[in-house]
Amino acid sequence: MVAELIRQYQARANQALGQRLPAADLHPTDLHQAMRYAVLGGGKRIRPVLVYSAGAATGAVPESLDGPACAVEFIHAYSLIHDDLPAMDNDDLRHGQPSCHKAFGEALAILAGDALQALAFQVLGQDPAMIPDPAVRLRMLDVLALAAGSRGMVGGQAIDLAAVGRELSLVELENMHIHKTGALIRASVLLGALSQPRVEPALLERLDRYAKCIGLAFQIRDDILDVIGDTATLGKTTGTDRALDKPTYPALLGLDGAREHARALYEAALASLEPLGPEVDPLRWIAGYIVERAH
Ligand code: IPE
Ligand code: IPE
Ligand code: MG
Ligand code: MG
Ligand code: MG
Repeated sequence: MVAELIRQYQARANQALGQRLPAADLHPTDLHQAMRYAVLGGGKRIRPVLVYSAGAATGAVPESLDGPACAVEFIHAYSLIHDDLPAMDNDDLRHGQPSCHKAFGEALAILAGDALQALAFQVLGQDPAMIPDPAVRLRMLDVLALAAGSRGMVGGQAIDLAAVGRELSLVELENMHIHKTGALIRASVLLGALSQPRVEPALLERLDRYAKCIGLAFQIRDDILDVIGDTATLGKTTGTDRALDKPTYPALLGLDGAREHARALYEAALASLEPLGPEVDPLRWIAGYIVERAH
């Protein structure tokens, strides 16, 4: 069953993450504890699951996927630590626990984020089980750097902060979401697919189109859950987008409009996978999960 396979991927990701994080008793212990707290404290592992699923779709060796899976999740975890800081969204709750800066203080939270970003590239650079081809390895580093930086997630976060209190057009809102969330989700699929040395460019193209659609849909659902979700289920405080006057899909299109938009992206994601076989069933399942999830 696909759902069971996804659970196995989540468990695999949790184990791989724990192994690659510095030990909690390694000096400087408070920094390493903050890193472990932020990464291992919770999370759906959707990005690692996408790495494993895209890798399986192209026939990549599972062991070669642990490194890329951890690298994207380290970038993601760092982005959440910084996103929760008082200077950004000022959120005290993450994964049902105090957010990193509440548990460890702002300075250590900033440093834990910084160190997780560096660790992501270290893992991607040196993981011995990854595909050995140096050209592919350089491409993977480039893919992650682009997705994480000012033309990817960080750029999207900057647009998000600059947009507070302003009315964005649908095109501007879409551009913000594509960068702040879509870029890393797209990179997850690409890194998994590139782990198969002979992946066909046409297949890569299809997977990339799929990834673009679900990346945007993921943030639309996140915006919807901020309105309709409850804090206990989500493990983060709801209603904060509105309180902070953030531009979101529900704010611009209404809840039904936002849901319709996510649904259209789901259909487009599936259409991109249409001629492919059961090897992409996990990717199909994830697309459905993304637009229907309750947390
Ligand atoms: C939350 O991402 C932030 C966004 C980019 C929307 P996730 O919903 O994937 O966060 P976790 O890791 O599962 O908590
Ligand atoms: C965060 O978006 C996107 C990131 C790059 C971290 P949100 O600010 O909506 O994420 P949540 O709702 O706090 O998880
Ligand atoms: Mg934010
Ligand atoms: Mg936030
Ligand atoms: Mg949100």
